[in-house]
Amino acid sequence: MSSPPSFTFSSPTSSATRRRRKSAFTYKQLSTLAASSTSCPLRVIAHVDLDAFYAQCEMVRLGVPPDQPLAVQQWQGLIAINYPARKFGLNRHVPITEAKKLCPELICQHVATWREGDAKWAYHEDSFKEMATHKVSLDPYRLESRRILALIKEVLPAAPVQRVEKASIDEVFLDLSAQVYRTLLERYPILKGPAPYDDPTEHLPRPPTTALDWAADALVDLDKEETEEDEPDWDDVAMLIGSEIVRNVRNAIFEKLKYTCSAGISRNKMLAKLGSAHQKPNSQTVIRNRAVQQFLSSFKFTKIRNLGGKLGDEVVAAFKTDTVQGLLEVPIERLKKQLGDDTGSWLYSVIRGEDTSEVNPRTQIKSMLSAKSFRPSINSFEVGVRWLRIFVADIFSRLVEEGVLENKRRPKTVNLHHRQGAQTRSKQAPISMGKAVDEDMLFDLAKNLLAQAVADGRAWPCANLSLSLGGFEDGITGNKGISGFLVRGDEARAMLGVPGESNDGGRTETPPLNKRRKVDDGRIGKFFATRHESTGGSEREHELDDEFYQPNETAAVEEEQDAFVPPPSAQRSPPSFDPAESSKAQKSPDTGQTTPANREDVPVILHPRVIDSYFCDRCQQPLPAASTGEHEDWHFAKDLQAQDRDSSAESAAVRPLQPAPRSSMPHNKGRGRGRPPGQTVRAEKGQKRLAFG
Ligand code: CTP
Ligand code: CA
Ligand code: CA
Repeated sequence: MSSPPSFTFSSPTSSATRRRRKSAFTYKQLSTLAASSTSCPLRVIAHVDLDAFYAQCEMVRLGVPPDQPLAVQQWQGLIAINYPARKFGLNRHVPITEAKKLCPELICQHVATWREGDAKWAYHEDSFKEMATHKVSLDPYRLESRRILALIKEVLPAAPVQRVEKASIDEVFLDLSAQVYRTLLERYPILKGPAPYDDPTEHLPRPPTTALDWAADALVDLDKEETEEDEPDWDDVAMLIGSEIVRNVRNAIFEKLKYTCSAGISRNKMLAKLGSAHQKPNSQTVIRNRAVQQFLSSFKFTKIRNLGGKLGDEVVAAFKTDTVQGLLEVPIERLKKQLGDDTGSWLYSVIRGEDTSEVNPRTQIKSMLSAKSFRPSINSFEVGVRWLRIFVADIFSRLVEEGVLENKRRPKTVNLHHRQGAQTRSKQAPISMGKAVDEDMLFDLAKNLLAQAVADGRAWPCANLSLSLGGFEDGITGNKGISGFLVRGDEARAMLGVPGESNDGGRTETPPLNKRRKVDDGRIGKFFATRHESTGGSEREHELDDEFYQPNETAAVEEEQDAFVPPPSAQRSPPSFDPAESSKAQKSPDTGQTTPANREDVPVILHPRVIDSYFCDRCQQPLPAASTGEHEDWHFAKDLQAQDRDSSAESAAVRPLQPAPRSSMPHNKGRGRGRPPGQTVRAEKGQKRLAFG
């Protein structure tokens, strides 16, 4: 790696000096770094990904020496291979017998499993023979993932400087901007200003250094027009500081927990993620601004975040290329025409290295899933119920960790999905708000759902069964029960100072919430709304990576879907799967308008000082803005109830339902808290009633 030459001051009158003495960045731009602004040209984002994660978990647990080849086995397949074993040519697709031939000293450690009747998962001897009666548990890896995340958060400065987003079971994004800003000002007090003439649009002075020590970082080659002799600017210095921070984080993870990981450091999430995979294992790659084009042009765009799935395929088909280089030649107008305005513009920017998506520190779980594929299929209610017992135990142990016993968080819905042939069907029930969530209650709900599925007459033979909880939200803690917050009908209107229907019909000029929402072409919003939810792998206990959506996985990886079960229809969709979402397309609830006669039943959650109000177009009345989430959730729960009633009333066979047209799929932004992504609040006209046959 070559370092730039030493910095020399020359005559202040020469034009070369003038160029050199000013940075390309302004005081204002620097100040946006402090706020982790997504438009700041100096921002520093890192992506940290654990090396061969499940395999490392087993090595740490078993105290296996670092150079010992090891793979993680699931039934008859391998799902994670450590780096020493990869030297023998092993990968996830190599069958175990073949793997042992290629690498005789390979340790194959089977994943932990739940055995029917047990209260907890365990590492069972010969569990690979027990596929028919055991269920895989990824809990050990989830627990390690949490320890690592907690350590990362401990090493970094406290929020709001710290911005950490858990992106899957073994990766995080870090927005290091605010911390880098702090360090920049400490090391280079000159940056504190004030700006000349107090004008924030003035350019900063150049960094008073040119020799940046990149230590052991892998530096990506520079763009064609750049040379290492070009003096560094503040973006290079910012990257260097970011890289130091990441090195410290990685060292701490290794020192304290004995895990190695790789990292990418760059100006946005997309580049950082490509960077972490650039040189594995145990190294970090910096992609400086001046190296972005060079770096990106070597990729197939299908490797880029959000372009791995359906959208990527669509782009390949439309423009007959899968390379970034090839796509750079396509004018923005053509991209927009083919893909819609939003997706077209997004793609145009992304292949040029621009990505303003934020690092989202939300870490709360939104749903949990436990599932099992059956080979051979199962055929009776009794057997199904036995599996439900295991699912409930599995999920409940995770609920306890989420603080459900203390009512810190609670789920709102239970969903059962069952697959018969290529069809996956779902049943859903609300979890009643008044009761404590416990194992027996969940088991009863699950059993009822299975009974409904059986009554529909399409349950057997069942190839896959899963149970999920959704709509997690903060529980009410303290001594005030939910009823203390509920005020009904006229009382609520009186407290709000809102005229009742008798005055003006309760109408206002404010358009209903869902009409005000921006509707795009139905692609980008969907991709990002859902991606947003799922990049918080943290938000789902069934962390999903892009990889899980690749078709034709080996049997091992498909069995991995013991824990992750996209139905066949979801396997090629964008990198987010929510069973509730997929069922939504089939089961859009009938949401007839609430009539004035039953308006009094609408609970309104009042807050001591109501300042803003919003208009609920389903109740045709204004409500306190602060209760929007709760109120929409109330409708949601009502819809589910109605839907439940409908489905038990119409116990005749349900024909597979048509998904709603794309344009009618609302996006998740601004929805009530905790609603499964994409869950419709109301059905579109003309498809209110489902296609029962
Ligand atoms: N995983 C899986 N099935 C897949 C993809 C991933 O079971 N189709 C599991 C792997 O076992 C892995 C973990 O999810 O340990 C994280 O996946 P990933 O980061 O893609 O791979 P690693 O095994 O961590 O390897 P790498 O060093 O390349 O990141
Ligand atoms: Ca990994
Ligand atoms: Ca990963």
